[in-house]
Amino acid sequence: MYNSFSELRENCVECRKCGLCETRHNVVVGVGNENADVLFIGEGPGENEDLQGEPFVGRGGKLLDKMMNAVDLDRHKNIYIANIVKCRPPHNRDPKPEEQDMCIDWLRNQVRLINPKIIVCLGRISAQKLIKPDLRITKEHGLFFQKGEFLMMPMFHPAAILRNPNQKPDAFDDFLKLREKIKEVCPSTYEEI
Ligand code: URA
Repeated sequence: MYNSFSELRENCVECRKCGLCETRHNVVVGVGNENADVLFIGEGPGENEDLQGEPFVGRGGKLLDKMMNAVDLDRHKNIYIANIVKCRPPHNRDPKPEEQDMCIDWLRNQVRLINPKIIVCLGRISAQKLIKPDLRITKEHGLFFQKGEFLMMPMFHPAAILRNPNQKPDAFDDFLKLREKIKEVCPSTYEEI
């Protein structure tokens, strides 16, 4: 249990709990406003993220920023972005269940420190780990699930949208739904920008 983000980050960047530490260049802890009411959670770093130490900085990240900015969300102002695993799986394979299990305490600590109202799960891996194991992203994207004190929404992963551009209108619709929910449950998100 950590009492501050700086303490969490200091420890997280030294983590050697699973084999992913052998091949990583950087631990990708997260980016954004540590007091945000809206937390986005992806799957794990890719090549660009591993090299730069920041989540979603490749092509998918640019698309994510665009969609977020269209609904007045900004990674440097009113949201936070993290991943299920903090180190890049080699060749961008899916993180193994045991790697996710070894890493999840970092995310638990982040969630406890941030204390968001809304958690957006980007893609199947994140949504199945955090919402329910049998979640179907194609059917259930854009829906809100109440889990304990959090409202959770699965969305398409930006990399999936790049592979499948016909998902773009649905993906954008989900951002519009997110904006409405933010206005309802945490309108101050839009006062901070
Ligand atoms: N994909 C993810 O799920 N997370 C990142 O940070 C980058 C790509």
